[in-house]
Amino acid sequence: MKILIIGAGGQLGSELVNILQDDDLIPLTHRDIEMTDDQEVNNILSSNMPDVVINTAAYHRVDDCEDNEALSFSVNSIAVRNLARTCNELGITFVHFSTDYVFGGEKDTPYNEDNCPNPQSVYAVSKLAGELFVRNICSKYYLIRTCGLYGAKGVSGKGGNFIETMIKLADSGKEIKVVSDQFVTPTNAKELAAKVSQLIRTGKYGLYHITNNGGCSWFEFAGAIFQLTGINAVVKPVSSAAFGAKARRPLYSVLENRNLRLLGMDDMTQWNSALKDYLYEKGYILDQRTFTDEDQ
Ligand SMILES: NC(=O)c1ccc[n+]([C@@H]2O[C@H](COP(=O)([O-])OP(=O)(O)OC[C@H]3O[C@@H](n4cnc5c(N)ncnc54)[C@H](OP(=O)(O)O)[C@@H]3O)[C@@H](O)[C@H]2O)c1
Repeated sequence: MKILIIGAGGQLGSELVNILQDDDLIPLTHRDIEMTDDQEVNNILSSNMPDVVINTAAYHRVDDCEDNEALSFSVNSIAVRNLARTCNELGITFVHFSTDYVFGGEKDTPYNEDNCPNPQSVYAVSKLAGELFVRNICSKYYLIRTCGLYGAKGVSGKGGNFIETMIKLADSGKEIKVVSDQFVTPTNAKELAAKVSQLIRTGKYGLYHITNNGGCSWFEFAGAIFQLTGINAVVKPVSSAAFGAKARRPLYSVLENRNLRLLGMDDMTQWNSALKDYLYEKGYILDQRTFTDEDQ
């Protein structure tokens, strides 16, 4: 398959580049393409004529989005509208990523694809607008919501990922405060990329939640990182209110991979097993210990 990737230098994009090596790949980093430049995007798509365009690019510094509404909507909504239109006109399948933050956090059981969004922040509203453009414009699309993503490459604008940030903070010896009342599913970008590679060959277009399985608070996630690596760290739980981030986030945004399961394709591992895989890959742990059910 001829596949063009936008955001190829990012944490999910770079894992997709690795996993799709056997395809006819056109990996484009931010240096190669500016997705808000409609003309450039249209020229690149029509001159390459891929079968599939995968867009992982987004403006997703969630707190910064609150002060930069125009940029948020420009990247996460309007540019996505143009991509969706161009893909549709050229008969290209469009793969686009969205977020658990489209939900409001009212539930305390995992959100499935039929649950109603209730975005709480500029970032979340702009991503939901992007979703709606994809769903309304494209006839061949895979729209994938994911959550708590971490990958070996890290996010350039966020200085790495949550795991690396925790390990750096522990090295500094300072007390670490982590929010304990927001529940998510940390998701390994490598595993997500592998699942995307399978899904895009099915022809089963539509909306999908794809995360690792299970859920935890960010505080529990930090605890698991230190337990597995044996790193000594003082981690204190704090409430979202006390943490005082600029953007509102849902207190519960664990996703259920329901549509994937209906295809018989939800073999995503538990979040703590996926974390172990990442730590092993990065050399933080040396053995491939497995979790018991009690750990999960
Ligand atoms: N990270 C998470 O926890 C999380 C959670 C849920 C959903 N998601 C969604 O998952 C997707 C992938 O996230 P990620 O963590 O892989 O992001 P990422 O690491 O930041 O990768 C995105 C890539 O897109 C590039 N990019 C940004 N703006 C661009 C533009 N205007 N034109 C062209 N390229 C641009 C970035 O390049 P530069 O860095 O050079 O600008 C970066 O390499 C996004 O849609 C995000 O909203 C992420």
